[in-house]
Amino acid sequence: MSKKLRIGIIGSGGIAQGCHMKGYASMPDLCEMVAVCDVNPETAKTAADKYEVKKTYTDYRTMLAEAELDAVSVATPNAYHMQPTIDALAAGVHVLCEKPLAMNADESRKMCAAARESGKILQVALQQRFTGQARFMKQFIDGGNMGDIYYARAQALRRRGVPAWGVFIDKEKQGGGPLIDIGVHILDFTLFLMGYPKPVSASGKTWDTLGKNPDLVNPWGEYDRAKFTVEDFAVGLIKFDNGSVVVLESSFMANLDGDPFQTQLFGTKAGAIVKGWGESPIEIFTEQNRQLFNMKPTNIPQVESAHVDEVKAFVDAILHDKPSPVPGENGLILNAIFDALYRSSETGKEESVDISY
Ligand SMILES: NC(=O)c1ccc[n+]([C@@H]2O[C@H](COP(=O)([O-])OP(=O)(O)OC[C@H]3O[C@@H](n4cnc5c(N)ncnc54)[C@H](O)[C@@H]3O)[C@@H](O)[C@H]2O)c1
Repeated sequence: MSKKLRIGIIGSGGIAQGCHMKGYASMPDLCEMVAVCDVNPETAKTAADKYEVKKTYTDYRTMLAEAELDAVSVATPNAYHMQPTIDALAAGVHVLCEKPLAMNADESRKMCAAARESGKILQVALQQRFTGQARFMKQFIDGGNMGDIYYARAQALRRRGVPAWGVFIDKEKQGGGPLIDIGVHILDFTLFLMGYPKPVSASGKTWDTLGKNPDLVNPWGEYDRAKFTVEDFAVGLIKFDNGSVVVLESSFMANLDGDPFQTQLFGTKAGAIVKGWGESPIEIFTEQNRQLFNMKPTNIPQVESAHVDEVKAFVDAILHDKPSPVPGENGLILNAIFDALYRSSETGKEESVDISY
């Protein structure tokens, strides 16, 4: 290859330094981080120093105008995903944007339209698809071994896990609570395994009583209960045009045992529980010759970092003219489902899900 990809970072806080920059740094022959931007100059400097990036900016527009970039990671808080993404795409720059794609489906629509117009890649940073479990299960399901998956129960539940840093409890900057923050991962994982059916309607309910209660312990850090404007628990039932249904549960705080992050798939030939982590993260339930089996696979691919692999997939797609490994349209579907669930919690009714753009 004659030229390395020139990479810029927009928002260089926790996830940028811990995952995106680590990913780019793992491919020194293919790409070079040439500029880092953060509205906080100290954060930009810390990130740049850590990865030996020469140039820092506090305004991403200046960076886009000056740095001659091929691609950027957008790793800002959710409220600041849309504009930098649209501006980068309009400047002919590929974008790897953090999850959720946007605050809501209207923003996602604009981002998908900008990608379509520019012909550049828009990838959503949903790294669960790059785990060993996802790779194993995708192959198993695509081989027809589960039959039709008609129902799934997806859970991203924390007993006491309110992120006390950043803006995770601020609805204005995040768009929502656990549903949009961690529910997004398990729902994407589940829909990815189900072949991303088209959602048609959703009904749900959210609560915020525990998150606002100052008497409850939060081992993830102290936070101002008066500033807790997101939900602490959400449940949703989502219907798809192929007749399948997903029930999604997500919490920052709930009275339960442990912090389950898993999906349970129900197919006509087999069922499965797939966990986000643990010694034996996949268990498959099936019947052969009127005998019932529980199976634990022993050759699940070992993946060192799903985050790094998602960045590698982004770079590979750019270099080899491949479609987006996690298309913006999937991010739009997730946002449209969350919009419908939040709406349903207010109206008390089942709401339609619109994924057009
Ligand atoms: N994929 C995952 O597993 C995962 C994990 C954590 C966070 N995230 C996502 O990453 C995003 C950032 O989260 P974080 O934990 O890194 O937060 P963070 O607060 O550590 O970092 C965000 C950075 O963006 C900067 N910023 C804000 N507005 C900006 C702007 N307009 N231009 C440039 N910089 C700006 C902030 O100063 C901050 O340094 C969120 O969307 C979050 O949902 C994803």
